[in-house]
Amino acid sequence: MCGIVGYIGKKNALPIIINGLKRLEYRGYDSAGVTILNNKNQLLTFKRAGKVADLEKNINKDIFSGDTGIGHTRWATHGEPSDINAHPHYSSDDSIILVHNGIIENYKFLKNNLIKENYKFATETDTEVLVNLIHFNYANTKNFEKAVQISLTAVEGTYGIACMCKYEPDKIIAARKGSPLLIGVGIEEILVASDPSAVLNYTKKVIYLEDGEMAVVTKSGYGLKTIEDIQVLREAEELDLLQGEIEKGGYDHFMLKEICEQSETIQNTYRGRINFDTGVAKLGGLENVLEKMLKARRFIITACGTAWHAGLVGEHMIEQYCRIPVEVEYASEFRYRRPIIYPDDIIIVISQSGETADTLAALREAKKHGATTIGIVNVIGSTIAREVEAGTYIHAGPEIGVASTKAFTSQLMSLVLITLMLAKEKNVKLQDSLLSLAEELKRLPGKIQKMVDKREEYKKVAEKFKDSKNFLYLGRGYNFPVALEGALKLKEISYIHAEGYPAAEMKHGPIALIDKNMPIVIIAPLDRTYDKIISNIEEVKARKGIVIALANDEDENIKNYADYILRVPKTLALFAPIINVIPLQFLSYYIAAIRGCDVDQPRNLAKSVTVE
Ligand code: AGP
Ligand code: GLU
Repeated sequence: MCGIVGYIGKKNALPIIINGLKRLEYRGYDSAGVTILNNKNQLLTFKRAGKVADLEKNINKDIFSGDTGIGHTRWATHGEPSDINAHPHYSSDDSIILVHNGIIENYKFLKNNLIKENYKFATETDTEVLVNLIHFNYANTKNFEKAVQISLTAVEGTYGIACMCKYEPDKIIAARKGSPLLIGVGIEEILVASDPSAVLNYTKKVIYLEDGEMAVVTKSGYGLKTIEDIQVLREAEELDLLQGEIEKGGYDHFMLKEICEQSETIQNTYRGRINFDTGVAKLGGLENVLEKMLKARRFIITACGTAWHAGLVGEHMIEQYCRIPVEVEYASEFRYRRPIIYPDDIIIVISQSGETADTLAALREAKKHGATTIGIVNVIGSTIAREVEAGTYIHAGPEIGVASTKAFTSQLMSLVLITLMLAKEKNVKLQDSLLSLAEELKRLPGKIQKMVDKREEYKKVAEKFKDSKNFLYLGRGYNFPVALEGALKLKEISYIHAEGYPAAEMKHGPIALIDKNMPIVIIAPLDRTYDKIISNIEEVKARKGIVIALANDEDENIKNYADYILRVPKTLALFAPIINVIPLQFLSYYIAAIRGCDVDQPRNLAKSVTVE
């Protein structure tokens, strides 16, 4: 999720590592740190919460002078942003130093085993467990490469790591599983990085590690092997991207990158939180309030913007699958309305940034009434995350584009997990068994990737509507909030006016708007409301409206009604909003990009609205 830079060569490592970390700042982070093997053969570490520039300003460059080192920018997942939780992490005797991107899912299990071996821990992070595990295995093997291999074999989850050892100081070991890592091959110098933008100033020759591989980097070169110790031979490739393109992973905008990475971010949200053999979901961060959730007479979900749309979807999920009454409130209204809140209410606040002023105020209003508060948040250690009684992090990674996309689908995934957990605990008879839901969940990333891979089809439709002045978005049931979200995406990045409505609401007024210039996006999946939606499409067509139907791949019938079709794979009702929003994200992105709008920083908008 965040940034790694390592250097070994003839130059002073510190400035190279610092500059490399600065190249990675665009990814968003909360803390940074470096370890340098200095000229006295000491492994020295300096790390702190805050910006790379602060680190650079405060580090003692005279003693942190040497030709080998590693650095990290952290996007916290376990343990709030703080000096001590920043990377590099080191073993208790400072002999092993490690930086890590990703999530060690079984860190608690590994930590308990190490505690039995009398290991002490200074931080709450999962990463500190890995560095001590390597220390433990080094003590048994006296071989750094072996110790790393044995340790990584025991790890479940994702990692991109770079690590050093006091007893074998002439090398950096890098390894990856599920979190990108590459080697930059320079002239008499080698870099390790999580992103090519950090090495571009020194070399264009890179080798990308594959999952399960490690690299041993020394001044005389590098060797590739698997963590099972099988040699790997791979030619370096030439980077042909410009700096700006690299930062966006080769995409034109962060928003497009973030839409396209949802197959991966969805997995990061549910990783380690669902047992695919039983379908049982478990959210560790809600364990302490589970009883209260099961006894609650109602849930209130409060949020703003896209997060509020996620709340509306959550209302459908929790009411339909758990039979618990849910109310959804705009936080900006809720906070001023002198709301009636009972102490046994469960208040769920949803916020990507965890800093939205209205949502924070609504949370504090709820706490004043003694209600139980739960957060569904992306940014670890954010104000909302720290002030709720319990919560779950969506693990979507830094979302740079102002228009929220991957955070929305990860918010929905978190609500799915909460729904499954409560449905199981309440023993509710489900329309789809927990097992069939879990099996479909496993197929979801592949279905999302299929849409990402065929995004040109959505672009072709977008090209037809770049000059439209108004849009209507229509949906029924849980697709009504999806219609709202699609309309919000379009208006906030393309500046075209768009409104979302319940499809059945058209006849109560909005249908007067329809004419031959009005495109109407209608979400029409093959579900129990399909026939009603077809009637709504006919109403629109009768008034010459232009119909853009979002329809399942299998639906041949829709061709008789729609002018344009955005195809989506079929899925179970619980997951449909996650699937159905993606073509709408692409539609809004391409219309805005074709119109030449500032897609990542739309006018008048901020990524986090920390003012009222
Ligand atoms: C969504 O695309 C917008 N950027 C905005 O509506 C956003 O969802 C809203 O400001 C809430 O932000 P939060 O999730 O960080 O609280
Ligand atoms: N899980 C690690 C932590 O929370 C690494 C986070 C990252 O990828 O930056 O410190």
